[in-house]
Amino acid sequence: MRNIRIGVIGTGSISEMHLNAYKKNPAVSLAAICDVNGARALQVAEKYGADKSYTDYRELLASSDIDAVSICTWNNTHAEISIAALKAGKHVLVEKPLCRTVEEALEIERTVRETGKLLQVGYVRRYDPNVRMLREFVDQDEFGPLYYAKASTIRRLGNPGGWFADIERSGGGPLIDIGVHVIDLCWYLMGKPKTVSVSANTYRRLGNRSHIQHLSFYKAADYDASKNTVEDMANALIRFENGSSLLVDVSFSLHAKKDEGSVRLYGEKGGFEIDPEVLMVAEKHNTILNIQPQTDSKAGFSGEAAFQNEIDHFIECITNGTKPISPVEDGVEMMKILCGIYESATKGMEIRL
Ligand SMILES: NC(=O)c1ccc[n+]([C@@H]2O[C@H](COP(=O)([O-])OP(=O)(O)OC[C@H]3O[C@@H](n4cnc5c(N)ncnc54)[C@H](O)[C@@H]3O)[C@@H](O)[C@H]2O)c1
Repeated sequence: MRNIRIGVIGTGSISEMHLNAYKKNPAVSLAAICDVNGARALQVAEKYGADKSYTDYRELLASSDIDAVSICTWNNTHAEISIAALKAGKHVLVEKPLCRTVEEALEIERTVRETGKLLQVGYVRRYDPNVRMLREFVDQDEFGPLYYAKASTIRRLGNPGGWFADIERSGGGPLIDIGVHVIDLCWYLMGKPKTVSVSANTYRRLGNRSHIQHLSFYKAADYDASKNTVEDMANALIRFENGSSLLVDVSFSLHAKKDEGSVRLYGEKGGFEIDPEVLMVAEKHNTILNIQPQTDSKAGFSGEAAFQNEIDHFIECITNGTKPISPVEDGVEMMKILCGIYESATKGMEIRL
């Protein structure tokens, strides 16, 4: 059987994780690279031994030599490129967030159904080895029904600027950029309950804190201190049909002591933590046990392993014609939650979904 021929569209920071993982998968050949920045596309194509480089994704998609694409571009292009790729007969792995609006998400979902092609959403945290391990415990009913989850991703000084800070291209700030990861992770592990409502707040009080000295932070290539149209922070309470709930807060800028992340889920028989470290909590013989699983890493996210699993899963699904564990429907549901949060914050009231 011939190798699956891949095109990677967008050659910024995250594309490296995709490219390195594809390189390590023996069933893959890297066929083409595309970026609007032609010099970067060419350089990446040379580095990874891809046969061709393009500046227009439509030309890449027109090539019958390509079976599937990774979309690693700005959020405002995800819907357009995904739909064009599916219509061109390619399978799609699209980075999170699926897109910027529910309407875009529904159009992508419709196109998946019409074309019969596979679309996997890059919810990479689902593919982390420790999350896979915890998912097995959840599936074996080790924790009982999970009725509460709490997730927090706080950056005190971490607005990357550039397109991330431009609402037109990003669709939003820390909520859509980093909040999406932990909201999806909790929702997935809780068994994907139907969302009934969200009540949320967003704040724009500190801006991007570009005046701060003596402390460095990641900046997008096109960082411009004067440009910032996204929220500094967001918090939300998400209620599900089965009575479970998720409390979340995220920030790019906040007067916090330090950057901090926590993801915790609580069930009727036990609980577990993913961030900052994997830990299970149980009760046996009237005693509370904090259990430290012995795995390769204590961390709830091991980037390299998680991306490798994500890419290997994409290739496996293409090869076997199976549905990915992060299908388009989950991308649509997450866009409903994220957009519901923004709407709730704007209207200052709870939103029924
Ligand atoms: N899964 C994760 O953990 C994770 C982490 C970071 C970013 N991301 C996602 O990956 C995507 C890219 O983020 P990034 O940090 O790599 O950004 P980046 O700015 O470093 O790179 C984006 C690249 O896309 C290119 N591009 C934009 N529009 C294009 C188009 N129409 N055609 C071809 N190229 C185009 C840009 O020139 C740039 O090189 C975003 O959707 C982001 O949310 C995911």
